[in-house]
Amino acid sequence: MRRTIDWAGGAIVVIDQTALPGEYRLLELRTVGELVDAVKRLAVRGAPALGAAGALGVALSARLNGDVRKDAEVIAHARPTAVNLAWGVERALGKLGQGADAVLAEALALLDEDELLNKAASKHAAEIVLAACPRRPLRLLSHCNAGRLATVGWGSALGVVWHLHERGLVEEVLVDETRPLLQGARLTAWELAQEKVPYRVQPDGAAAAAMARGMVDCVLVGADRIAANGDVANKIGTYGLAIAARHHEIPFVVVAPSSTVDSKLADGTGIAIEERDARELTGYAGVPITPPDAQVFNPAFDVTPFELVTAVVTEHGRFRP
Ligand code: MRU
Repeated sequence: MRRTIDWAGGAIVVIDQTALPGEYRLLELRTVGELVDAVKRLAVRGAPALGAAGALGVALSARLNGDVRKDAEVIAHARPTAVNLAWGVERALGKLGQGADAVLAEALALLDEDELLNKAASKHAAEIVLAACPRRPLRLLSHCNAGRLATVGWGSALGVVWHLHERGLVEEVLVDETRPLLQGARLTAWELAQEKVPYRVQPDGAAAAAMARGMVDCVLVGADRIAANGDVANKIGTYGLAIAARHHEIPFVVVAPSSTVDSKLADGTGIAIEERDARELTGYAGVPITPPDAQVFNPAFDVTPFELVTAVVTEHGRFRP
């Protein structure tokens, strides 16, 4: 299985996530402008993959003899919520004084670490899920995509599914479709199908009803930014899932590499929430689905207070606020 984002032949190569599941194609990003566009369009997405994009973007700028600090600023602000993007940029920038090759080496080291750290975080989380949920095999609920495609490799929340599936412990994954861009229906379902994990896609609005009907043993999600007190920003709809899970006494587990922790932020109120284009909601596949003058509220993320989370898990184990 190839990496979601990599470096080859002087370019950043990404799996184009706007084309999946219909078409599996690669994009070669040869300029900083092309990278920023790919990040904004969600051709490459998911917090850990954005960290890799940030670091490789700085490496690309350095190799092209660009205005690296200016490019770094633009890349870091391409999307505001996932802290990993700015973290990846900063990490690569730290090697700028040693030349372009050192910057690229640092970016590639970050890519190598990503898979190891997500594997470790999801292994810790798998043990926490097994301890919290007595039923076997497990029925898990997933939101957005926190799999291989959201990372360089392996995945965070979906990484837990891979560990549990290897041990024959997964009955099914209920996949929230994740309106409006359908990262669940398009990407998570595609990954689960590849790994032959039983799954069903459901509308986001079915999640609470599935819990009420006793169909869910544990909710597993990733994160885009975790504040020092443990508040979690993740894909819009995560907060509602956490409230429903608490009401039904279902464990709600967040899995992320520690690069997603923003220890400078005291709590989730300081997290910038990306608001996306109204057209993501006013039309579907080019067909208008609202009156032409409909006003839109389209936040890409929400913040779940730590008190609603059973465990936030990183490669270091259970996160302590
Ligand atoms: O808008 P996206 O698709 O980049 O949002 C992604 C998410 O919200 C993921 O759940 C999060 O980045 C964790 S991915 C391991």
